[in-house]
Amino acid sequence: MLQKIGIGVLVSGSGSNLQSIIDHIENGTLDAEIRVVLSNNPEAYALERCRKHRIPATVVDHRQFSSREEFDRRVIEILKTSGVDLVVMAGFMRILSPEFFRAFPRKILNIHPALLPAFPGTHVQQKAVEYGVKFSGCTVHFADEGVDTGPIIIQAVVPVREDDTADDLAARILKEEHRIYPQAIQYYAEGRIEIEGRKVRIRCDRRMEDIALHNPPLTRF
Ligand code: GAR
Repeated sequence: MLQKIGIGVLVSGSGSNLQSIIDHIENGTLDAEIRVVLSNNPEAYALERCRKHRIPATVVDHRQFSSREEFDRRVIEILKTSGVDLVVMAGFMRILSPEFFRAFPRKILNIHPALLPAFPGTHVQQKAVEYGVKFSGCTVHFADEGVDTGPIIIQAVVPVREDDTADDLAARILKEEHRIYPQAIQYYAEGRIEIEGRKVRIRCDRRMEDIALHNPPLTRF
């Protein structure tokens, strides 16, 4: 029997990634326990999801703090007193200060709706559509002091279609986010993740096949 890791989930909005984590915990495929959910936004729908599932949730409204550091200190304090082993940012729209990374070294995960290092930052599905890339996707990575720069754990690739709006692409990506985030947390819970500099190694029996994707499809070659 695996020891369950205690996670703290940071949210700002809808919380569909939080929902996917909750669902996988409830159906027994993710060996984790949500110790606390923290939202910087009192209106976040994620808080409603917590109520429905009886998960402890706290609002720490960043507007009530005079500096980023002060806000972060309060969040760190709550995470520590809740006994959190791993911090999971799930649509958390705040940049963390260096103190946060010192408090949870290599223990903070983030999900980003693009294939990093392409399109870091915000409004990235719109940027991917405008740029004309043929594939995009999502990335789970360890957070570090840069913006979306930390070592990559897992990525999923989806096609970008010619008539896609940013919303179409976002929905296609989100479906994959809901699969790769629980998987990344489960790898972590099972102690399968090793970090060597920028590279993350997953101790796993299965290997990715040597496949290539083409968009548009090849008709001849
Ligand atoms: C997700 O697409 C997530 O990847 C993105 O915000 C959305 C949150 O959705 N996060 C970022 O852009 C972080 N830079 P959710 O609240 O429904 O999980």
